Amino acid sequence: DDKKFHTLLDNKWVGSKSGETVKIYSPDNQEVTGEIPALSQAEVDAAVAKTADVQPNWEALDGTERSELLHRWAQELEKMTDEIGDMIHKEVGKTLSAAKSEVKRTAQLIRHTAEEGLRTHGSFIQGDAFPGASKSTKAMVQKVPHGVVLAIAPFNYPVNLAASKIAPALITGNTVVFKPATQGAVSGLLMVEALVKAGLPEGVLNVVTGRGSVIGDFVVTHPKIDMITFTGGTATGQHIAKKASMIPVVLELGGKDPAIVLQDADLDKAAKEIVSGALSYSGQRCTAIKRVMVVNEVADELVAKVKERVAALKVGPSSDDADITPMIDQKSADFVVSLIDDAKQKGATVVHEGIQDQNLLGPTLLDNVTEDMEVAWEEQFGPVLPFIRISNELEAIDLERRNAYGLQASIFTKNLENAFTIADKLNVGTVQVNGKTSRGPDHFPFLGVKNSGQGVQGIGRSIDSMLRDKVLVLNL
Ligand code: G3H
Repeated sequence: DDKKFHTLLDNKWVGSKSGETVKIYSPDNQEVTGEIPALSQAEVDAAVAKTADVQPNWEALDGTERSELLHRWAQELEKMTDEIGDMIHKEVGKTLSAAKSEVKRTAQLIRHTAEEGLRTHGSFIQGDAFPGASKSTKAMVQKVPHGVVLAIAPFNYPVNLAASKIAPALITGNTVVFKPATQGAVSGLLMVEALVKAGLPEGVLNVVTGRGSVIGDFVVTHPKIDMITFTGGTATGQHIAKKASMIPVVLELGGKDPAIVLQDADLDKAAKEIVSGALSYSGQRCTAIKRVMVVNEVADELVAKVKERVAALKVGPSSDDADITPMIDQKSADFVVSLIDDAKQKGATVVHEGIQDQNLLGPTLLDNVTEDMEVAWEEQFGPVLPFIRISNELEAIDLERRNAYGLQASIFTKNLENAFTIADKLNVGTVQVNGKTSRGPDHFPFLGVKNSGQGVQGIGRSIDSMLRDKVLVLNL
């Protein structure tokens, strides 16, 4: 059966011992695109144990050798761009061009990580800066890996958000247990195939596939896991943070990123950035613009400009290369519809109404959204965009301070000084001035505060997160 995929355990492609699988359904047409092994807890236990066994050998290698492996991985991945792009497209309903871009971006990210990882170093501290100690006490602060890193990736970037965890873990001498999202798992496995072709030593990365309900908590609480890095929904992230005890946990979770549009903004630019920021991949991005706060003076004009652009978007299956493609599953689509219904019932103005055909939702624009509406606060993760009209920027700051999330925010204005003043008051990881919210370029620090996450990613910071200090004190 060409739809049955194996997982990688100790460099062997295997199914589960029970023969059980999990099916993956295409968002475009609900057909089965693939089946992955449903591992048991015992199989996961063996995989984690092996990953832990080989870690000291992997750490003992020269950094340059680990770096070379990553460079070869990037090369093999690029060779597989069409194949992996096609699988991402089928599994998670991204257009083929977006899916291929994801693979290319990932190869670039791996290369940058392979270089940057060679530049990490510790420090040297003299004792005499503290009373009672002297220069005869000297500390060499080394940077050492945590050990075994559990990398858990989401469906929306099944390759990129997996590699952005795996590459920094590997370059620093950690070994990796990779748990892909079910939708996107085959793409993740193909990405791992590129790593095997590049010369991955046995056991340095093992992939645990299966049902979250069976293996999720088991692997998160496994005593041989030394660090967890997760991207996904806030509820799952909070659950992981509570379950994982006494190990570092890096989380990149949901967001409710605002675009704040002031009177002096370039409205054409703002409209363009808002549409692509809010609606690319049908809004299924943590960093999507999820609410617009626009001052009354320019609200009509901005809404009209956004509407014009949105009306021109093509809605349909990802196989038709549409701009707005079916949502990942019916449950997610139902949630978006419930937000739209709630807002309509409470008096929002429907500026543009999207079609609702099972999990395919056209883009919906809601104006005059007020604070009592769920869509003003809840993360939609789909193609609906609320406009909240405000009197001035103080209202935007106030609304944003009450946001449960704190990933990014965009400010559109020609007055940079004012933008900086507002930026200082927003409790978010990143403020974008005159641009949409987004993670890249991938070497910039990337983080969320409040319910949006903990810890920092972005190539350099992700590498840092994979290391801890180890202090060697010389007492002369
Ligand atoms: O979904 C969360 C991703 O980290 C967003 O990445 O801004 O490149 O789409 P992106």
